[in-house]
Amino acid sequence: MGIVVAVDGTSGSGKSSTCRGVASALGLRYLDTGAMYRAMTWWMLEHGVDVHDPAAVAARCSEPTIETGTDPAAPTIHVDGVDVSGPIRSPEVNDAVSPVAAVPEVREQLVALQRAHIDEARAGSGIVVEGRDIGSTVAPEAPVKLYLTADPAARAARRAAEEGGSDLASTEASLRRRDEIDSGRAASPLTMADGAAHLDTTHLSLEQVIDQVVSLVRAVE
Ligand code: C5P
Repeated sequence: MGIVVAVDGTSGSGKSSTCRGVASALGLRYLDTGAMYRAMTWWMLEHGVDVHDPAAVAARCSEPTIETGTDPAAPTIHVDGVDVSGPIRSPEVNDAVSPVAAVPEVREQLVALQRAHIDEARAGSGIVVEGRDIGSTVAPEAPVKLYLTADPAARAARRAAEEGGSDLASTEASLRRRDEIDSGRAASPLTMADGAAHLDTTHLSLEQVIDQVVSLVRAVE
């Protein structure tokens, strides 16, 4: 049976690069659940839904069709057939995604999709899944669970570099705002899952983090 590796952590802690690297090294699939919440948020903004009105978001969240490709070398995300891999990283989506992701109906819908991907991958070689509630809610039975963190300044520097050199102070403020909402919400808040290994990536290179995670996965396989 394929292995499930659950990776949670704060925004900008290096989850995506780590998970893709680990999945590529071990021949596993890769699922970016954050991209799914971002895709849902992009659709809400496109359709003029007030993202700060949970009832309005809940009423429409079953309308978009969200499809995620799980190849770690080239992950894809489509909404109603449209490639949204660029637009879901916009400042507008950054600011609106946490309120949308706090709506229980949105989570119910996307968690069902995530579990379908995980079940399919279990029948194959396995999958690395990244998010905020993977080890606690989506796949609590995962044999490997990780919780990645890094100092806020390091996280902001990485994210600003990814976003093409955007302003450090505003990037850090945006990450902190998202972490606050993600940790404080009632529905599946960001938290370190039971049995998760905590990895602080502040002073580690990407290669070092990938190596550590690959060793952890090999130890249980
Ligand atoms: O990982 P990323 O920064 O792309 O996630 C964007 C947002 O999606 C998070 O800030 C959080 O609000 C939401 N999210 C979530 N649960 C997950 C993954 C992401 O609530 N499993």
